[in-house]
Amino acid sequence: MNCKQILQQKAMEIEFYLQKALPEKQTYPSALFEAMRYSLFAGGKRLRPVLLLCACEMIGGEKEKAIPFACAIEMIHTYSLIHDDLPAMDNDDYRRGKLTSHKKFGEDMAILAGDALLHHAFETMTQACVKDCSVATIKAMHAIAHGAGVYGMLSGQVVDVLSQGNAIDEKTMYFIHKNKTAAMLQAALKAGVLLGGATEQQAKIMEEAGEKIGVAFQIADDILDVTSTLEVLGKPVHSDEKNEKNTYVTMYGVEASQKMVEAFSQEAVCLLKTFGKEADFLIELTRYLITRKY
Ligand code: IPE
Ligand code: IPE
Ligand code: MG
Ligand code: MG
Ligand code: MG
Repeated sequence: MNCKQILQQKAMEIEFYLQKALPEKQTYPSALFEAMRYSLFAGGKRLRPVLLLCACEMIGGEKEKAIPFACAIEMIHTYSLIHDDLPAMDNDDYRRGKLTSHKKFGEDMAILAGDALLHHAFETMTQACVKDCSVATIKAMHAIAHGAGVYGMLSGQVVDVLSQGNAIDEKTMYFIHKNKTAAMLQAALKAGVLLGGATEQQAKIMEEAGEKIGVAFQIADDILDVTSTLEVLGKPVHSDEKNEKNTYVTMYGVEASQKMVEAFSQEAVCLLKTFGKEADFLIELTRYLITRKY
């Protein structure tokens, strides 16, 4: 199996556990569970949970222990997408090949479905922590809260929105990408190795690798916004231009941005290599991600 096939197989496995982690669609009030399920099961790549599970396995941890955290990080990611697409944010009509939540259910339900996914993620993680009250599970939950919160994704989204239509410097550009996107990938890798019993030093290396993978991932997303199509991406192209976003493409152009993607990805590979042969799949995945088409 090649990397893409393994990613798809692992994504299907995560799908199975996510189905079990969410209340049935018919549960009262069904409007809420229908909207939560609509976005969560719209067919994302499941990259963050795959990274979390692979990082845990790389260090010799048990997959079962990591599953609630993998499900939780995908719930948080999906909430961030629902809110990112809202008219008050990027105002996009398609996501994962389907109408965005607010287009399908209205803005009120979209906001609430996003809130619900975020809280359900923490309910899922705290349940796991109560069941296995170890330092590792609590540290993993902290890593995820940190990546999604004010020291991570949220600050990135704030600076992204505030910078629309304004010229920004390189440092600010890097801050946006590191926080709005890389922070969640860092969280996935760090939580994964912590659940597998990693030392603080190993967790730190994974966090650094996650930063490089994440920044490369977001620059690649900026490139796809100008080079791909709605049909392939499952989300509108030229969304960044419409919103006068600052991206690596607007700052450096497509060609130089592509070189930066490769450079960041290579830096991540060097860090992952310190884990030896066990990191082979994560290295392959890192290389695959920068060639992705969606
Ligand atoms: C989209 O993330 C938002 C970005 C950080 C670029 P993904 O490209 O992982 O989206 P899904 O989960 O596959 O839909
Ligand atoms: C958003 O970045 C990252 C999130 C935290 C959701 P983008 O706004 O570029 O993501 P897309 O292109 O809408 O997926
Ligand atoms: Mg955005
Ligand atoms: Mg967006
Ligand atoms: Mg984008």
